[in-house]
Amino acid sequence: LANRSANVVLLCRDRTRGEEAKAEVRRASGSDAVELMLADLSSQRSVRRFAQDFADAHPQLHMLVNTAAVFVNSRRVTEDGLELMFATNHLGPFLLTNLLLEALKAGALSRIITVSALSTTKLDFEDLQGERRFRPLTAFGASKAANLLFTYELARRLAGTGVTANVIHPGLMRTHLMRDAPALIRFLAWLASRSPAAAAETVVHLAAAPEVENVTGRFFKKKQIAESSPYSRDPNVQHRLWEVSLRLAGLPAN
Ligand SMILES: NC(=O)c1ccc[n+]([C@@H]2O[C@H](COP(=O)([O-])OP(=O)(O)OC[C@H]3O[C@@H](n4cnc5c(N)ncnc54)[C@H](OP(=O)(O)O)[C@@H]3O)[C@@H](O)[C@H]2O)c1
Repeated sequence: LANRSANVVLLCRDRTRGEEAKAEVRRASGSDAVELMLADLSSQRSVRRFAQDFADAHPQLHMLVNTAAVFVNSRRVTEDGLELMFATNHLGPFLLTNLLLEALKAGALSRIITVSALSTTKLDFEDLQGERRFRPLTAFGASKAANLLFTYELARRLAGTGVTANVIHPGLMRTHLMRDAPALIRFLAWLASRSPAAAAETVVHLAAAPEVENVTGRFFKKKQIAESSPYSRDPNVQHRLWEVSLRLAGLPAN
């Protein structure tokens, strides 16, 4: 995106890694328009502060890419009392996106891209925080299914505003995301995976290609429109997750 003259704001949780990423993007693109802002997506306080600082500095936003995620193999609870993967992978981006909607509408035509996966997991609405039963891969899969459900509901709500919302499966990538997963899963995933740079092309395509300017509410597998699971396409489930997420994020009904 920096290569294509976008002003890029990196949301990172760690200053040192964030500065390294910023320097790398600047070096690779030759662009100075790369900014670092710190925020921890697992903390609602941090997301709210980020959104406020962002809106003060940037009244318009043209592309929002929700891509950060974590996998952990034990149940951890955030400062908001939520399970860490649910909080980081779903609720943080949900809150952030809602808080940035004004800037996105001001920047329309604008695009929201959420990076998910081929998740077929169903959410356990009676135990969303895994308090009764916690299985790490199921909780992770549910957080990725939540990305799909969130995007479809969001796209419906944004119809006619000039803001599109799509969700992608970038393909398996050689990153450190599953560093805590069982060795066999890591090995098989590594065999089938490709470089993050190749996967990033899908994000750039959706964020910048003119031919997808008006496409919204779709699931992309690499650069092609695909179908996510029937469960993820159920409007009742999408609506239910939206309502629960509003409550958990302390947002007013909308
Ligand atoms: N890897 C795959 O095969 C694969 C397949 C399908 C979909 N995906 C999706 O692709 C996306 C990117 O994953 P990846 O594989 O690139 O993983 P990754 O290399 O582990 O990158 C994840 C990024 O999220 C950041 N992050 C984690 N928790 C955060 C928090 N609380 N606040 C702010 N940032 C946080 C991490 O920052 P730190 O540097 O501070 O840790 C890291 O930069 C994810 O949504 C993932 O589900 C990945």
